[in-house]
Amino acid sequence: MTDLYGLIGFPVSHSMSPAIHNEALQDLQLDAHYHAFKVEEGQLEAAVNGLKAIGIKGFNVTVPYKEAIIPYLDEVEETASAIGAVNTVVHSEGRLIGYNTDGKGFYSSLKPLMTKKPEEAKMLIIGAGGAARAIYFSMATVGCLAIDICNRTPSKAEKLIEECPAKPISKALSLAQAEADLAGYDMIIQTTSIGMHPDTDSVPISLEKAGTDAIVCDIVYNPLKTAFLQQAEQKGCRTLNGAGMLAYQAALAFEYWTGIHPDAEKMKTTVIKKLGGSIC
Ligand code: ATR
Repeated sequence: MTDLYGLIGFPVSHSMSPAIHNEALQDLQLDAHYHAFKVEEGQLEAAVNGLKAIGIKGFNVTVPYKEAIIPYLDEVEETASAIGAVNTVVHSEGRLIGYNTDGKGFYSSLKPLMTKKPEEAKMLIIGAGGAARAIYFSMATVGCLAIDICNRTPSKAEKLIEECPAKPISKALSLAQAEADLAGYDMIIQTTSIGMHPDTDSVPISLEKAGTDAIVCDIVYNPLKTAFLQQAEQKGCRTLNGAGMLAYQAALAFEYWTGIHPDAEKMKTTVIKKLGGSIC
């Protein structure tokens, strides 16, 4: 019988997950299919129970249910539990187990660019929402020396820092404070929705004071080259777009479900092609 995998969220029509997972399933000749399920407000519990009842092998969870799904799972793995958000569920022996692959996916995409070891590196995260939280927790877990967070609402950055069990050197900053003091960071990671289509001219802060040897990452992937990354390129910084994080979090979810590590580079290529970018 064909195994079923999927995605729940609202909306899901724009999601690239069906394309990347179905391609990997096909390439590995697995008799399985991945489908995006739109779950309307108020229907989350019914949807989770329904997917469990029909024997789905695993599924992804996207906006707005990454936190809300937790009460309906049988178990939540430690990192996902600390982050307070689940993006991947494994159905094993009648139990639904929640994981979070966003932070690890981000680190996998960043690692090849890093010239310093995490324990020597200083990172600035812009934003303090769900994506920032997954990235902060993951970078703290790999032993990043210092991770500051700047946010429009600095109290949210403070809260995020307090709630992380791992304790890197950290400060919560306003956007203006971070902008004035950018030179000290090896990595600058933009996690807000600023610059996302259709608001493609906006940037969260100016990169004028960034060091030219800094890595600048924007996890936005639509467009692939945001105004923020264009600024970073003009400064001569190394840049990283959001396609890698998207592909690597998917690859890890795929591995949790099937036990097979798929071709993550091919997944990234698929994402980039779908977004109309070039692979070089
Ligand atoms: P996600 O789960 O995608 O990270 P989120 O949890 O809604 O999304 O978080 C959005 C982040 O983008 C927050 O850090 C938010 O800042 P606030 O905490 O002050 O709300 C930030 N953000 C969104 N729009 C912004 C804007 N126009 N200017 C500055 N920050 C913005």
